[in-house]
This record gives sequence, structure tokens and C-alpha cells, in this order.
Amino acid sequence: MYYSFANDYSEGAHPRILELLNRFNLEQNDGYGLDIHSEKAKDYIRNLIKKEDADIHFISGGTQANLLAISSFLRPYQSVISVDTGHIIGHEAGAIEATGHQIISTEGVDGKLTPDAIQKALDENSQEYTTQPKMVYISNTTELGSLYTKDELTAISKICREKGLILFLDGARLGSALTSKFNDLEISDIADLVDVFYIGGTKNGALFGEALVILREELKEDFRYLIKQRGAMLAKGFVLGVQFEALFKDDLFFELASHANNMAEKIANIFVDAGIKFYTEPCSNQLFPIFSNELIERMSKDFGFIEQKKIDDENIVVRFVTSWATTDESVDALRRFFE
Ligand SMILES: Cc1ncc(COP(=O)(O)O)c(C=O)c1O
Repeated sequence: MYYSFANDYSEGAHPRILELLNRFNLEQNDGYGLDIHSEKAKDYIRNLIKKEDADIHFISGGTQANLLAISSFLRPYQSVISVDTGHIIGHEAGAIEATGHQIISTEGVDGKLTPDAIQKALDENSQEYTTQPKMVYISNTTELGSLYTKDELTAISKICREKGLILFLDGARLGSALTSKFNDLEISDIADLVDVFYIGGTKNGALFGEALVILREELKEDFRYLIKQRGAMLAKGFVLGVQFEALFKDDLFFELASHANNMAEKIANIFVDAGIKFYTEPCSNQLFPIFSNELIERMSKDFGFIEQKKIDDENIVVRFVTSWATTDESVDALRRFFE
């Protein structure tokens, strides 16, 4: 039977989320995110991140959250620094650039930004005729499946604070980062170190949705107007609220991400046993093994995955992604394939 490891958003939503949506289906709620479920979900998140005064907004998707955060917090001539593999570069159809802001692309280390790269971007864009770098965009986990250590994030936070840069963390896969066995960051550390971040629901068991958390005081003003003006404020905002309530009322968010990580670890071990090398070290729900063309052809009949990057004429980096819904049977089938 064919099974796809192409991404973590192939299935609908975890049954506990659907159950809550169903339970409240006929309840009448206030519109535009002003409902009791959104409030409850925000309280759970504020409690978790230990920031009672955080502003939280539920947004429908990752690109929308990136676009809103970046375009709202920058003045017209300001730019955002990102590693060249960052999702906002080349994966969002110019969504950020379409708002008039340059993305300054820098080289990353395993998909991660470094203070040195930030300093270089500042040095190279310091004239009145360049754009003014004002924001740093990072993602955790990164687009290459890697994660930031507490020391790394602290160092980035430090340079951002010294240089007056807004630090924005894209957490489309924050669940996978936080539950990785290699992680040493608490979500409350992240809230201490960045100015704004989002917690991804779409790739962690929700039907859709991201929780954008604004921590720095001056970024909070009028954000609901900015959401509305971009057409991103859903009349049925409670559908997002209920989903995040389900994710955070009893740690479902962490349970689902742990499941995805555990499944990825099993798959990584299958690849290791088969002598397959990795492009980046496996540590989250995204794996980047290097496959030969011949293996790709043989496997594609039974398994879905994404061809990420050609290494040479014979080898390609591919992406395998696990999710809250990845089954034991699919992993067993993969194991049998290599036996
Ligand atoms: C790190 C990251 N940010 C943002 C997005 C965009 O999310 P969406 O497809 O919901 O717009 C993705 C999508 O895969 C992603 O991997």
C-alpha cells in the first residue's frame, strides 16, 4: 500500500480537536476571535509561556502569519534578515517582498542563522541607499529539520537587542522542536528571548491555524486592525480558538509532536541501518536523507517523499516528514522495504 511521507499536513485534524469542534458546533459564538474559546486558548498559552501580558492572535496559516508579522512591524524602507533556506525566501511566492520589504539573505549553518551572519548583513546594508535591516527571521525547527540550542538562541537574541533588531521566530514546527530529545529550550525561554513568535497548529494536528504571540510592548498596538486590513481576520475565528483550546488544555500539542518525532527517529534508524547518509542530522520530524536516483525510483512506487536538492548526477537530498498521524504500519512497511 502506498504511504506518503511528503509532509505533515496531509491528514485532517486529531480526533480530540474534531471532538471539541463538534461539541461546540451549535454553540453561538462572538465573531472575529472575540469568543470564549479563543480567550481560553490564549490563557493556556500565556500560562505556558509565563507571560501574562503577551498578545496572542490566531492566524489561519504560516505564510499569513509571516506576512502579517513582517509587514506590520517594519517601516517602509526596512528589511528582514533570513538564512537562504528560510521559508520566507523562495517558498512564499514573494509574499514578503510584495509588501515592499527586502529580505536580506544570508548563509546558514544547517539551516540556522548565526550572530556572525547577522553582523555581516548589518555591515553590508549600512548605507542610506540600502534598506535598513530591522528584523531577524528564524524558524525552529528550521526548514532543514535542525533546531536552535538555548545558547544559540540566546546569542542571536543578544545581538538583536544590542543592534535594535526585532527577533521573529517562525514556529510552524515549534512542537517538533520543543519535544525533540536534542532540545534544551523551554517555550518560556523562547518567549524571553524573542520579540514575536508563532506556535504552529497546521503541522501539528490542527485542521489549520497558528498562534502569533507578540511580546514586545510597542509591537502590540493596533494589531487587530492590521490583521483585518490584510483580510486575515476570520469571522468564524472561534474555529481557530477551539482548536488551540484543544491543543493546549491538556498537552495534546506536545503529545502529537512527540509522536511525530518518535516516528521520525524510527525511520532515521531504518535509514542508518541501510547505510544511508543524511544531509542534516536527524533531530525532528523532518528527515533529509541522501538517496541515489536508483533508490528514488524504486521507492517512489510505494512511498511519497519530496526531492529537495540535487547533490550530484547520482544523488539527491530527499525530505521525509512524519506527523501526529504517522502509523506504525507505514514505518514497518518502510523497514520491510530495506530488508
Ligand atoms: C517554517 C515554515 N514557515 C511557514 C510555512 C508556511 O505555512 P503555510 O503553508 O501554512 O502558509 C511553512 C510551510 O511549510 C514552513 O515550513
